[in-house]
Amino acid sequence: MCCAHEMDTDASDARGKSLKRSARCIKRSIAVGAAVAAAVALQSTGGASAAPAPTPTPGQQIIGGPPAKQGEFPFMVRLSMGCGGSLIREDVVLTAAHCVDGSGPNTSITVTAGVVDLQNPKAIKVKSKEVAQAPGYNGKGKDWALIKLAAPIKGQETLHLAEDDNFDRGTFTITGWGADKEGGAQQRYLRKAKVPFVNTATCKKAYGDQLTPGDEICAGFMAEGGVDTCQGDSGGPMFRRDEDGDWVQVGITSWGEGCARPGKPGVYTKVSAFSAQIEKAANKLMG
Ligand code: ARG
Repeated sequence: MCCAHEMDTDASDARGKSLKRSARCIKRSIAVGAAVAAAVALQSTGGASAAPAPTPTPGQQIIGGPPAKQGEFPFMVRLSMGCGGSLIREDVVLTAAHCVDGSGPNTSITVTAGVVDLQNPKAIKVKSKEVAQAPGYNGKGKDWALIKLAAPIKGQETLHLAEDDNFDRGTFTITGWGADKEGGAQQRYLRKAKVPFVNTATCKKAYGDQLTPGDEICAGFMAEGGVDTCQGDSGGPMFRRDEDGDWVQVGITSWGEGCARPGKPGVYTKVSAFSAQIEKAANKLMG
């Protein structure tokens, strides 16, 4: 959870790790200065003062639209370190590499599924068993990871991965419990929004060498901003309908400069570039 708050952390050491990750995330975010680093650290340690948004953006309802309806996105899960994820098998969650600490046996993550309200007593909560981070992940591109669950989550629809770049266009849905504005608090209720595809040339102009074009896909309203993922949404899916009307995952929330700023689209891991590798890695997770 790059820069996310610690609202639902339950692992005792997650706070320290979170701060480390926050630092890593901020390093990548060129225009986010030390003031925000301090504010994030404050929030991460439970400080009460709200972070001032460094550059106020108009229309800061980041996740943009209304809250999601119960059952609308059954594949959407919340991870205890403050990230999102998608259920791609009954016992495998896809998230961002920057949300986890490498690969191997791991029982420290709690996955919450089946609810839009994180405080709903009917929430399904399952522990992790193993984590597989993208091979060669070093903080640039390749921002994906898998979490094998200690038990399958039954009765929730899984999300299919885009197998080629046919779906890397059009309008995408983004969902998450992350901040509803730059520097804002984590949300109790799942939010959703729609963002248009931004082509690689345009995104490259916005981000220069920070962008890893083959690995990443951008989305957002270039001219006006105002709708975006934000801190705490990382690892969650960006998805659209396929020709049969089924949801297909095209992206994993990864990073952006600030949130919802005009000219600074959200950057997502390009699922179609990694789906074969992801499926292979999922098959290799211990049963
Ligand atoms: N890195 C952030 C996280 O860990 C996600 C930021 C997405 N930012 C954006 N402007 N789309 O939650």
